[in-house]
Amino acid sequence: MTVVTASPNTVDKKSTAERILVLDFGAQYCQLIARRVREHNVYCEIVRHDITAEQIKNHNPSGLILSGGPSSVYDERSPQCDPSIFELGIPVLGICYGMQLLCNHLGGQVESSEAKEFGRANCTVSSSDPLFNDFPASAQVWMSHGDQVTNVSSDFVSLAQTSTCPVAAVKHKNLPVYGLQFHPEVTHTPQGSTLLKNFLYEVCHCHGNWKLTDFASEMIESIKRRVGDKRVICGLSGGVDSSVVAALMYRAIGPQLSCILVDNGLLRKSESETVVRMFGDHFKTDLHVVKAEDRFLRELEGVLDPQEKRLKIGHTFIECFKHEAKSIPDAKFLAQGTLYPDVIESGAAPDGPAATIKIHHNVGGLPEELGFELIEPLRDLFKDEVRRLGLELGLPDELVWRHPFPGPGLAVRCLGEVTKERLDVLREADAIVIEEIRKADLYRKTAQLFAVLLPVQSVGVMGDARTYDNALVIRCVDSEDFMTADWSRLPYDVLATMSTRIINEVAGVNRVCYDISSKPPATIEWE
Ligand code: XMP
Repeated sequence: MTVVTASPNTVDKKSTAERILVLDFGAQYCQLIARRVREHNVYCEIVRHDITAEQIKNHNPSGLILSGGPSSVYDERSPQCDPSIFELGIPVLGICYGMQLLCNHLGGQVESSEAKEFGRANCTVSSSDPLFNDFPASAQVWMSHGDQVTNVSSDFVSLAQTSTCPVAAVKHKNLPVYGLQFHPEVTHTPQGSTLLKNFLYEVCHCHGNWKLTDFASEMIESIKRRVGDKRVICGLSGGVDSSVVAALMYRAIGPQLSCILVDNGLLRKSESETVVRMFGDHFKTDLHVVKAEDRFLRELEGVLDPQEKRLKIGHTFIECFKHEAKSIPDAKFLAQGTLYPDVIESGAAPDGPAATIKIHHNVGGLPEELGFELIEPLRDLFKDEVRRLGLELGLPDELVWRHPFPGPGLAVRCLGEVTKERLDVLREADAIVIEEIRKADLYRKTAQLFAVLLPVQSVGVMGDARTYDNALVIRCVDSEDFMTADWSRLPYDVLATMSTRIINEVAGVNRVCYDISSKPPATIEWE
């Protein structure tokens, strides 16, 4: 059977008339720009910086945004754009490096400024322009640059300044080309959304007709056409992405969908039962639960190294899934919850992958091994859009707002050897921290919360007796995209209740610590 791994989504992208392309020059904030644009109901995609003017014409975009990036336009190896993109007549907004690049091409002077600006600055608007409609005369903006545009030719008008940046915003006199030295996409530029909206609506003349519901209907129709009368298999993990995929597939093909949940014994307390209940309540799908705890634990016996744990778990998962999938006749497709950030990240480093910190994609080889055709209905969406879609498809809040849970599950939170006894200790403690955060109404306000069991014993005293038991860590983080994260400033009384309950209720734990490391340099998971 043929393996189709290229975009299998047959939704005709040209049918969504309005779109913005973000040219990626290596910006930290590239995905954020795309998300902000979509928040104004205009579809937006990220493309490579060296896309040609001809290729751009094929996309028929309403506007282009040149992202920021870490380079200096004068570096020999700095990423450049095809200069003819400025002659297409398509509006362009350059942000930070993007602005320096366009000014450099069209007649501006870029210098490595003495006063590098990182952080908040006050921006004063000096000329009226549709880009600054409803923007205050003076407002806080977020700067993050070394080089800056110090002078522009008479073809440009300077629109705004800060105390150290003489050209904080520019406009070309004859072309629909704008530049911003600061970052309108970050929350530290509180009025940044107004600028992006003005660019979309006033400069690019978009109408904002991109809606998630339309996207979902188009997707459902295209899935129906593609699948015909064949069967689709969908792996369920209990996480939001796979649940939304299943819900979408169910909407499209109903009884032709079979779901497989591999219970690897590394799930949270009652997780497998919860998934079965929630799915049973919402869809009458063919659900296969593979009970494989013993098999996974056997594989993990004596394994201490995190990457080896991941590989063993990934491999065993594939084996279990494959075995179950083979028992489902007529299955031709596999539906997976790949999201847009995964798509961008896997294509973003064509010259060699960045350092592998953790192996995340545990089931990467699955479609190839099984000879399935892959359906990835969420591959154009960001996580927050997937959540909104989940709600629109009728999934319960409890499922849609779940904190992410890693594929290798509790194994990477059970430091040292993974045994049933140690997992049970961890599972109980984990259930307590989740219960307490919910009681404190902080679950939705935090990005991820969990317990980590250390391979360390410490001395304690219970009653009159000395104990020598496990130390356990509570990890809770705030994060927008999980690429960076800060430890959550949980109230002391919430932490105190968690700690007291764990020490009193979970046999084998006599010490609880709170992790106060941010990512980077720490990662969110401990392994
Ligand atoms: P780190 O620990 O890299 O985690 O800061 C970032 C996000 O990824 C999740 N994570 C994983 N997810 N398989 C997964 O499916 C993995 O091996 C894995 N490791 C980390 C982590 O929970 C966090 O949300």
